[in-house]
Amino acid sequence: MMFGKKLAVVTLLAVAGQTAAQTGNITLLDTLRSSKTVSQFAILIEGCQPLADALAGAGDMTVFAPSDSAMGKFIKSAVGTKDVSCNTMTNMNRTLLDILWYQVAGQAVLLKDVQPSQVVNTLLNNNSVDNFPNGVPLLVEAIPGKKKKNTTYEVSNGLSGAKITDAKGIQASNGVVHYTDQVLRPPATLEQTLKQVGGKGFQALASGQPQLLQQWSDMKEVTLLIPKKMKKMKAPPSNGTSAVNPYAMNYVVQGIYYTSNMTGILTQLTNYNGHTISVNGNETTGDITLNNNVTIVKPNIIYEGGVIHIISGPL
Ligand SMILES: *[C@@H]1O[C@H](CO)[C@@H](O)[C@H](O)[C@H]1NC(C)=O
Ligand SMILES: *[C@@H]1O[C@H](CO)[C@@H](O)[C@H](O)[C@H]1NC(C)=O
Ligand SMILES: *[C@@H]1O[C@H](CO)[C@@H](O)[C@H](O)[C@H]1NC(C)=O
Ligand SMILES: *[C@@H]1O[C@H](CO)[C@@H](O)[C@H](O)[C@H]1NC(C)=O
Ligand SMILES: *[C@@H]1O[C@H](CO)[C@@H](O)[C@H](O)[C@H]1NC(C)=O
Ligand SMILES: *[C@@H]1O[C@H](CO)[C@@H](O)[C@H](O)[C@H]1NC(C)=O
Ligand SMILES: *[C@@H]1O[C@H](CO)[C@@H](O)[C@H](O)[C@H]1NC(C)=O
Ligand SMILES: *[C@@H]1O[C@H](CO)[C@@H](O)[C@H](O)[C@H]1NC(C)=O
Repeated sequence: MMFGKKLAVVTLLAVAGQTAAQTGNITLLDTLRSSKTVSQFAILIEGCQPLADALAGAGDMTVFAPSDSAMGKFIKSAVGTKDVSCNTMTNMNRTLLDILWYQVAGQAVLLKDVQPSQVVNTLLNNNSVDNFPNGVPLLVEAIPGKKKKNTTYEVSNGLSGAKITDAKGIQASNGVVHYTDQVLRPPATLEQTLKQVGGKGFQALASGQPQLLQQWSDMKEVTLLIPKKMKKMKAPPSNGTSAVNPYAMNYVVQGIYYTSNMTGILTQLTNYNGHTISVNGNETTGDITLNNNVTIVKPNIIYEGGVIHIISGPL
């Protein structure tokens, strides 16, 4: 009898302990569900089983959750109908699920350690549509304020992005939620990206060789260094086996190098023609000088094939 009673008590305690552990674990999914600020986003996620499962599962993720007004505007402009599902195509050649995956980084992002910028990989990692090895990346940037406490943070594809509206974030058992004021857009094609940047330098590089755009668009996992402006290139020799002037390949580097890759021990890059480009990076400011006379003036523009840095002039 005694033994039986004791056992019963022990069992009860064990059950209670387990329940406490379970309810103590408020997951990212729970956090989004109970938020009044991002209810649209939460509803869409609940309709997308793979993503809902991921946000209820194990990990240390970072969710950039767009506000209801941002989500509403996005659905209106990028989808055009209120009747949406996971598989709805947006006008970005992506399903809504793809876009939602892009709002979630697969790692914890500690904003206080972002100085001046950090690249993180998202859970948008479908190899059949994405060319990045570990998920399509996002750029998180610290925007300095008057004082250190006035630092604000932005998250983007390097061209268009969102302000993080609660830097502190909401901690869940499997990651953190930050609220944002825009839906993050996955990187676009090279052509679309150059249009947005104002690719005058690229036009000069491609003058007389319209094939260059196609050739560069076909390359994956590359870093493009595109002069802000330069003299028009001479047309390639008409006898050549390559339709493209090989000089243009001086501006292409195999591998994806963000400025954060260039401020550490890296002292040189090798371009497609096998020439070295010397790299001088300042770890504090993130400023980069190439070949001692060219600076990166607009860094870390992520596009479908890799990253573009706009540089001050020809290399
Ligand atoms: C609760 O979260 C902790 C740490 O995040 C994890 O180790 C544990 O397995 C989780 N427990 C349950 C019941 O999910
Ligand atoms: C969508 O994809 C098609 C085929 O690849 C392409 O021609 C078109 O430009 C793309 N549109 C957008 C907006 O990306
Ligand atoms: C990956 O993208 C392709 C093309 O859009 C789609 O058919 C496939 O279902 C996607 N796979 C996953 C796991 O989402
Ligand atoms: C800087 O932060 C302080 C305290 O948080 C705040 O009172 C002040 O308005 C902020 N200044 C700016 C320019 O944001
Ligand atoms: C093409 O012409 C250029 C200039 O006349 C010459 O230097 C080059 O060797 C030629 N290339 C081939 C593949 O014949
Ligand atoms: C650049 O840094 C990222 C981490 O931020 C890393 O994943 C990537 O492999 C680096 N790229 C190269 C070419 O080393
Ligand atoms: C980096 O930039 C800071 C601020 O301009 C400057 O004080 C520092 O000397 C620079 N460091 C190097 C190694 O050039
Ligand atoms: C940098 O130096 C190279 C080689 O001397 C020169 O061709 C190039 O025009 C220079 N670029 C700038 C932006 O001054």
